[in-house]
Amino acid sequence: MNTNETRRTIKARRSTRIFASKDIPEEDIIRILESANQAPSAHNKQSWRFIVIRGPRKQALASLVSERAGQFKKPSSTLLRMAARSIFSAPVVIAVVNTGELVKHGTKSFDGVANLTELFRTMEIQSSAAAVQNMLLAATSLGLGSVWLGILCLIREEVLGLLEIQEGEFMAVVPIGYAQGKSVAPRKKSLESIVDFLS
Ligand SMILES: Cc1cc2nc3c(=O)[nH]c(=O)nc-3n(C[C@H](O)[C@H](O)[C@H](O)COP(=O)(O)O)c2cc1C
Repeated sequence: MNTNETRRTIKARRSTRIFASKDIPEEDIIRILESANQAPSAHNKQSWRFIVIRGPRKQALASLVSERAGQFKKPSSTLLRMAARSIFSAPVVIAVVNTGELVKHGTKSFDGVANLTELFRTMEIQSSAAAVQNMLLAATSLGLGSVWLGILCLIREEVLGLLEIQEGEFMAVVPIGYAQGKSVAPRKKSLESIVDFLS
């Protein structure tokens, strides 16, 4: 197969949910953040913020998620408990927040376009998603594991409160560290089942 470093990294990326108790180099955190910041963003607004969480605040986040898990039914409770374990075991967690700058300031020059707020909000969420994917790939390229924890959306207000984020929309929480054990590759659909070629 014709492949290269980028394609190898894309293929090697796996969601890692349990991490070894080993710190990651500070430079790697910066490299991951720089990669996130290179993502495409609607109108190049880069309306994302990254909050790097370590130490007692990270443990407090893990405790919050674990406590709140009991208030949900399965499968949410199970996923929240798993998320708490990932946050607890990872040396670093990065939260991603959408600042909504495009919705707030970008609509002026588009007078008369219907549903502009909804359209711009969608594009900002997509931009943040691109940044998260860059983070995951950068982590993989540095020999690190990571996982995108969307389930924390269920308790987004409490998460934002704990992280002292006054303004912004919860996008993702990503624990990062050295994988404990090997993650099993899940099956992916065949191209035939998901692609249509038109001409
Ligand atoms: C938007 C989004 C939200 C996700 N939320 C969670 C989550 O809350 N907990 C979790 O363990 N994995 C979560 N994942 C990871 C997926 O479960 C994972 O990507 C999928 O099972 C495929 O595995 P792979 O990442 O190893 O290819 C999320 C992924 C995405 C893109």
